[in-house]
Parts: sequence; structure tokens; C-alpha cells
Amino acid sequence: MHHSPHLTNPTRACGRSKVFPVGLGGMLLSIEGRPDRAQAMATIHTALDAGVTLIDSASAYHTGADEVGHNETLIADSLDSWDGDAAGVTVVTKAGRVRPGDGRWLTDSSPDHLVRSATASRDRLRLDRIELFFLHAPDPVVPIADSLTALLRLLAEGTVTSVGVSNVTVAELDLAHELLGEALVAVQNEFSPSATQHRAVLRRAEELGLAFLAWRPLGTVGTRDDELTAAFTEVGRAHDASPQRTALSWLLSTSPVLIPIPGARRPETILDSASAAELHLGDAEVSRLGAAVASRAGLQD
Ligand SMILES: NC(=O)c1ccc[n+]([C@@H]2O[C@H](COP(=O)([O-])OP(=O)(O)OC[C@H]3O[C@@H](n4cnc5c(N)ncnc54)[C@H](OP(=O)(O)O)[C@@H]3O)[C@@H](O)[C@H]2O)c1
Repeated sequence: MHHSPHLTNPTRACGRSKVFPVGLGGMLLSIEGRPDRAQAMATIHTALDAGVTLIDSASAYHTGADEVGHNETLIADSLDSWDGDAAGVTVVTKAGRVRPGDGRWLTDSSPDHLVRSATASRDRLRLDRIELFFLHAPDPVVPIADSLTALLRLLAEGTVTSVGVSNVTVAELDLAHELLGEALVAVQNEFSPSATQHRAVLRRAEELGLAFLAWRPLGTVGTRDDELTAAFTEVGRAHDASPQRTALSWLLSTSPVLIPIPGARRPETILDSASAAELHLGDAEVSRLGAAVASRAGLQD
């Protein structure tokens, strides 16, 4: 099966780059339950062959304390061994979350840590500069303005070209925009049919002209046997599409700045996800799914 959706589909803006509408989330290739290296690289190569040009990583995507940056090294190796043009691929990465090696996710968004972490990420990615670098999360014990100052330093030193913020509120996004100006090009928050709590952040991203990278974009669609999965399954069936592919297509229809970054541990799943870029739902289908999403969100309140 050969897909060339990148030939027929419009790209989306992510800072200065135009990227394929669906990205690849790298996390599951490097944390607990990850596939072996050959399968991980095959998954990345399949994404690239399908036209994906945005890969999301983080220094914290690893398990053991001695393998910080596992995911960045894996992606760099996969780009090296890919037979396509890796220059057209944007790898975004983050700092601020840390993993001591016992399964926990902690936060360290102190300026010194962020600067050291970004420099190490740049070296692992074997880049001169990281094109888009994210503050992974605000730190409860560090004022976010201090964390953002580290991003300014990384911009000034030329370690990174542009920056983004992740897991932020509208107020935090506004502060980032104020302090970072044009260098701020993206926000990355959770957003899916089962998690729409950051809709106001998405709307603010539209107003500010920022890309909104939607993490865990499938939510519970396809894994929970409920009305939400039923709605996406039914609408998808008319297009011979999986509920997951239908969910990604619906997400793309909700905003021109939204870029879903689905995760995958297998080539098959990212191939299906990437093909969402060429699945166009009708207006009636989009509203029907929107109603199912709204009804589910209502249940959560
Ligand atoms: N900024 C943050 O704080 C933050 C937090 C969480 C995640 N993220 C980013 O967001 C990415 C996505 O989140 P995620 O990986 O947790 O969850 P996800 O993308 O919502 O779901 C991934 C799971 O869904 C399955 N899947 C994906 N596409 C599918 C398809 N088309 N059909 C059937 N199953 C499909 C995968 O199966 P297989 O495993 O079998 O392939 C995988 O287990 C992460 O990789 C990471 O890069 C960022």
C-alpha cells in the first residue's frame, strides 16, 4: 500500500515550516512498553514515507535514569538511515519534565536546567539549532516568567530558532506571547474528542497565529466501548475509515492551526493515522461528531 497524501494535501504552518497536517508523537517509542529498536525505527520510517514531516520528542522520553534523550537519539538515527530527504523534517523537542528512572514524571523548569537540557538535546539531534523548542510544562515552584527567560537565552545564544510552550493556561500563553514575541510560534496541549478542556487555549492560539500541537489526540476513541467511540466508528464506516483515523480527520476540521501528533508503536497505526490527512468529512458528519464530543464533555462537567 503506497500513500502519497503529501502530494494532494495542504500543509499546516508550524512556525516558519509548513508541515504535513498529521505529526508523529515519539513518546511511546522510548518509554515503558516501548517496542524494540528495529520496530521503533520501522515505525518512524513508515511515518516519513507516508509524508509526515513533524516528529514530537522530549528529553524526558526515556525510562532509565541513564538514558535521558533516548527518543531524540532514536529519531536522529532513524533520520540518518532513512532514504528520503531528512532536511524536510522538523523534529521538535522539549525540556522541563524529568524522569528519575523509577517510572515517575517530575518537573524541573528552572532556567539552568532548561538551558543545559536544550543544549544536550541539540547535540543528540545532531543539529546546529533546534528549529522549535518547547517548555514541556510550567514548574509549580519556579515562576513561569523565569522559565521563559531561559527560552530567551536559548534564542539569543542560537541554540534554538523558535519556541513553544506546553501544558499551559490561556493566561500563561498570553504571558509567553508577551515575553517572547515573534519567537513564540506554537503551543502544545492535550486535545482530543474525549479531552476538550483546552478549547480556550486553542482559540487563543488561533488569535495569536500560533500552531496548536494536540497531544494524545485520539483520547479514548477506539479504546473505550462508549457512545463517543460508537459515533466515530459509524461515521468512519461510511468512508471505510477506522474510528481513530476519523477522530484525527475531525480534529483537523475543528481548527486550521491544529496539528495532531498521534503516538504509535507500530508502522500500521501511524500509517492509518497519517492517512487522516486525506480523509475529508462532510459538514453533516463534522457536526454529528461535534455533538457526540460536546455530549461527552457535558458528562465530564
Ligand atoms: N506535551 C506533553 O506533555 C505530552 C504529554 C503526552 C503526550 N505527548 C505527545 O503526544 C503524543 C501522542 O500521545 P500518546 O502517544 O500518549 O497517545 P495517542 O496518540 O492518543 O495514542 C497512542 C496509542 O493509540 C494507538 N493508535 C495510534 N494511532 C492509531 C490508529 N490510527 N489506529 C489504532 N490505534 C492507534 C497506538 O497504538 P500502537 O501502540 O499499537 O501503535 C498507541 O498505543 C506522544 O507520543 C507525545 O509525543 C505530549
